[in-house]
Amino acid sequence: MPCSHSLNHSKIPNHNQIRSFSSIKIVPFKKKHIQFGWNLTQEENWITTVDELQDLLKFDPKGNFILECDGTARAMIFSTKYKEFTFIGNFIVEKEFRHKGLGRLLFSYAMNSLRSRRVKTIMLDSVPEAVPFYSSFGFKEICRSLRFNGKLPTLINPKPKNMHQITPDILESIINFDEQIFGSSRKILLKEIYNRNPSTCFYQTQNGQISSYIMVERRDGYFKIGPWIVSQNEPHPEDLLLYCIAHDQKSFNTSKISNISNISNTSNTFTSYVNIKLGVLERNTRAVNLLQKMGFKISFYAIRMIFGQSYPIMKNFNGIFAQAGPDRG
Ligand SMILES: CC(C)(COP(=O)(O)OP(=O)(O)OC[C@H]1O[C@@H](n2cnc3c(N)ncnc32)[C@H](O)[C@@H]1OP(=O)(O)O)[C@@H](O)C(=O)NCCC(=O)NCCS
Repeated sequence: MPCSHSLNHSKIPNHNQIRSFSSIKIVPFKKKHIQFGWNLTQEENWITTVDELQDLLKFDPKGNFILECDGTARAMIFSTKYKEFTFIGNFIVEKEFRHKGLGRLLFSYAMNSLRSRRVKTIMLDSVPEAVPFYSSFGFKEICRSLRFNGKLPTLINPKPKNMHQITPDILESIINFDEQIFGSSRKILLKEIYNRNPSTCFYQTQNGQISSYIMVERRDGYFKIGPWIVSQNEPHPEDLLLYCIAHDQKSFNTSKISNISNISNTSNTFTSYVNIKLGVLERNTRAVNLLQKMGFKISFYAIRMIFGQSYPIMKNFNGIFAQAGPDRG
């Protein structure tokens, strides 16, 4: 598969509008495209950040493409290839250029590129309207992929004994623990998330072994949770979520008050709440029940779809309490 690909008209689907462009080119997504790509995500009201796009570019530089019409970028697609499986995400065609066949062209190109890299399993989170589009490529529905919004108190409880802040020397063990449950190594991605948010990354232990961990990113107006990975040995994963948020508030000052959505003053205890966002598969009933018990509400859902071999990935979903992102699992 060549790195840059000019498509001659014999390879272009028989779509009248697509033939109106004198040149269509698919090129590797490079750093210079980040602003264009991020703008596309903002137009869709996605919560993707520039850092996240940069992380994916670094993790798998061969998996991301830009489609240019007559020399101008009009669409993008990302794929994140782990050893055992791959995620596709950030697939967007500029609004004015939709329904001309460009999406199908770019998606086919990305699928062919993954096939040539011997990828056997591909997953993605599809907006409900796009399910027939992906089904036509052979993707099958697994379950709903839920986006939860919630509020958590910033009360600082005494730190539970089995709770620890992730430090650089424990990070390698966290990465190994993640691999056992996630099903593949995502070392580079986790390191990047940790390096940006060292004060909001925590783990729990049971009998001296890591039993869960969480990485949290403070953003403008909310906290984004993920990854949050929990083994079956951990009876109280909710402690981790509650504590990492409360802990972060210790360093909170009034200039950062925009993160606080609601402040109440009861029984002389000054309690504030922060907005939380996370994504989890509906089939992880333990996580879903826990979040609903904590008052989280579903704000949106996508459909998790899979192409190719599904075993042994399917069994691992129960440990993923929050995805790192819909574009990377
Ligand atoms: C999905 C998307 C990339 C498809 O790009 P495109 O260039 O319009 O795709 P094509 O022209 O090749 O095919 C369009 C077909 O895909 C289907 N489709 C796919 N996704 C769709 C969506 N989100 N909304 C409506 N139709 C969609 C329709 O059946 C459509 O057929 P039509 O043109 O006859 O109406 C584009 O709609 C888009 O950028 N959507 C917003 C971002 C998004 O939802 N991305 C996918 C996340 S899973």
